Amino acid sequence: MPADHSCAFAPGRVNLIGEHTDYNEGLALPFAIAEGVTVRAEAQSPGSAGAQRIEAHASDLGERDDFALAHVTPAVGWRAFVRGTVAELGRARYPLVGAHLCISADVPAGAGLSSSAALEVALCLALIVLCGQPPPDDAVELARLCTRVENRWVGAQTGLLDQLASLCGAPDSALCIDFRTLHVQPVPLALADWRLVVLDSGERHQLASSGYNQRRAECAQASQLLGVKSLRDATAAAAERLPEPLRQRAEHVIDENQRVRDAVAALHAHDLPALASLLNASHESLRDLYEVSTAAVEATRERLLGAGARGARLIGGGFGGSVLGLLEPGVSPPAGAREVRPGPGAHLVE
Ligand code: GLA
Repeated sequence: MPADHSCAFAPGRVNLIGEHTDYNEGLALPFAIAEGVTVRAEAQSPGSAGAQRIEAHASDLGERDDFALAHVTPAVGWRAFVRGTVAELGRARYPLVGAHLCISADVPAGAGLSSSAALEVALCLALIVLCGQPPPDDAVELARLCTRVENRWVGAQTGLLDQLASLCGAPDSALCIDFRTLHVQPVPLALADWRLVVLDSGERHQLASSGYNQRRAECAQASQLLGVKSLRDATAAAAERLPEPLRQRAEHVIDENQRVRDAVAALHAHDLPALASLLNASHESLRDLYEVSTAAVEATRERLLGAGARGARLIGGGFGGSVLGLLEPGVSPPAGAREVRPGPGAHLVE
C-alpha cells in the first residue's frame, strides 16, 4: 500500500583518510556527519493532474522542478540528481507514485561534504517508503543505485565512498570500507579532547567538470599497463616503471591504502599525533602526486595549520571543497571552521 507521506534524512560525510581509493578497489575511512539532506514526500492524490508527476521544491534555493514519472529527461544542477534518482528507482522496478517533494539541506553543496550523495540517498528512502516498499536492507545495492545517478545523470564517474558512508554511518565511529569486498567495519573514533573541523575553501567543485573523471581514467590505464585488475593489486616496484603521470597516480593509491591501515591502527592505539601525521602525508600526496589541490585549497589548509592544527588535508574529490583539520586540546579553530563529529547513517524521520 502506498503511504500518504514519508520523510527521510541522509547525512553528508567527511572522509578521514583514503582519498581516490574507492574506484581502485582500495580502502577508505569516512564517517557520516550530523549535517545532511532531508526529503519530505507527499503522495499526489490519485486521479489528480499530478498523480503521475514529480514536483520537487528545493526550499533553500527557492527553486522548483516538475516532470512526468513516465518520461524523465536530463537536467543540470540539483535537478539532475532528483530526476536521475527517480529514473534509476524506476529502472530498478520500484512502483513509484506521483509525489510532491520538499528538499532541505544543512550541508553546503559543492564543499566536498557529499551533499549530492546525501540528496540521492534521502530521495531514495523517501520515495521507496512512499510507494509502500520496505527500504532495502542491503546498503551496497542502494549505494550502487545512487552511484548510477552520478555516473549516468550527472556525468561524474564516482565510486561508492560517499553513498556507503551516508547509508552506513554510526555515531562515534568512522567506517573502514574495503572497496574490493565492500565490507564496512566501524572503527571507534575516540578523539578524547582533540577536535576535527572542516574549513571551506569557498571554491565550489563539480566532479563532472573537474579533473575527477580524468584521474579515474588514468588509474584504469595504469592498471591496464601493469596487467592488474585494479590498482589495489599494484606494487610500488612495478608502479615505478609506469610513464608519468601514471606513476604518480599509482603511487598515491598504493601509499594511501597503507595510510588507511595505519590510521585504523592509530585510532585503535589512541595515537592522535600519528593520525595527524597521516592526514598531512595524505594531503601532500594528493597535492604532489595526484594533483587535485588548488591554490584556494592550499591557502585554506595554511589557515588551519597556522591556527595550530596538527594535521590537515583536503577531503573528497579535490579541485576545491573543504579541508579537514585535526586540532589538539586547547587549540582554537580559525574563523569559519565548523566542528564535525560522526553521526548516524540515513534514516526515516517519520
Ligand atoms: C568524491 C567521489 C568519491 C571518491 C572521492 C575521492 O567524493 O564521489 O567516490 O572517489 O571523491 O576519494
